[in-house]
Amino acid sequence: MEFRIGDCSSLELAKIYGTPLYVYDKIMILQRIKELKEAFPNVQICYAVKANSNPEILKLIAAEGLGADCSNRIELEYARRAGFDMSKCIFTSVNPKNEDLEKALELDVLINLDDISIFKRLVKIGTPDKICFRINPGFGKGKFPGIVVGGHGTKFGMNEDLTLEAFKLAKSFGVKRFGIHMMTGSCVLNEEYFEELTLVIQDIVERLEKTLDIKFESIDIGGGLGVPYEKHERKLNLKSIGDKISIIYKHPAKLIMEPGRFIVAESGTLLTEVTTIKNNFIGIDAGMSTLLRPALYGAYHPIILANNTEAEFVQEINIVGPICENTDFFAKNRAMPKINEGDILAIQVVGAYGFVMASQYNGILRPAEVLVEHSEHKLIRERELI
Ligand SMILES: Cc1ncc(COP(=O)(O)O)c(C=O)c1O
Repeated sequence: MEFRIGDCSSLELAKIYGTPLYVYDKIMILQRIKELKEAFPNVQICYAVKANSNPEILKLIAAEGLGADCSNRIELEYARRAGFDMSKCIFTSVNPKNEDLEKALELDVLINLDDISIFKRLVKIGTPDKICFRINPGFGKGKFPGIVVGGHGTKFGMNEDLTLEAFKLAKSFGVKRFGIHMMTGSCVLNEEYFEELTLVIQDIVERLEKTLDIKFESIDIGGGLGVPYEKHERKLNLKSIGDKISIIYKHPAKLIMEPGRFIVAESGTLLTEVTTIKNNFIGIDAGMSTLLRPALYGAYHPIILANNTEAEFVQEINIVGPICENTDFFAKNRAMPKINEGDILAIQVVGAYGFVMASQYNGILRPAEVLVEHSEHKLIRERELI
């Protein structure tokens, strides 16, 4: 059987738009948003734009009424153009430039700073009505070391003492409304972890409110909801996470979550053509510049033969790109069916941190992107040309 995306033939999409090609299933994105809304009815969901910032995808997420989490002035502008309600948007910066701070002030989004020094810089430009600071609780979790963003030795956020100083300083500058933020890691498939985060941040909030004599208006536990990439991994039971959080969350402040991967990852497929078969290598026309995650983290992505999804596995083989690096691989010793030159492979679960990490390295220009809705398909980004 041929691999289909929505109700579209993957082979036909590859023929029409060429390869390598990112294809996203709109219905799956909408389904993930629905699941989030149902599981977390009282939580403000802010999509992390960095996961996938294709303008059409941002538009469809904005139209669902979600907010956005943006990391710099460019992502803020993407969110504005896509039609996000700016009052639901957060600017979570790491080492921002003054231009980023100016843009966040201009768009009047919630400014979330991860160091007291940045607040000192911000007030020279303008003092917002409300401020949020990012706390590093001293621990983190994530599928790969590269995506654990909480804990000692990570560059993100302040410890509790410094966070306290930051709020004191903000208060002394006349800021009257406050939020607090924590983002400790990405691709977490442990359901208890989100409960733990909520408990930890509530404790911190209780101490800070007492010492500072303030009330927080928003409490943000970040993103991090994982998705299964590997056979042994199980889908998160979102409803159970939501139920548990709603029981333990006692604070009147608005609770915010910033999922990126969960919303878009599974909707994406990278279609790529087999160019070469040599020794125990299958060479494809996508490289690490097309999809970086395997080279960057050793990340696993399912790969299937698009022309025949039921073909029997007959070999263990390496699947590699056309780039001059040993890290340019997609699979090592992967059980695969017989594969021929010209076949189309579908690399799955690439909707998050896929195209956004693409580069032009080694003259591999960035691929096109297509959005599928049932049997309809449309180009949502042109293939890059020289
Ligand atoms: C501040 C912030 N929020 C949200 C996210 C989204 O994380 P995820 O895609 O794991 O949900 C990230 C990702 O790194 C982030 O840095």
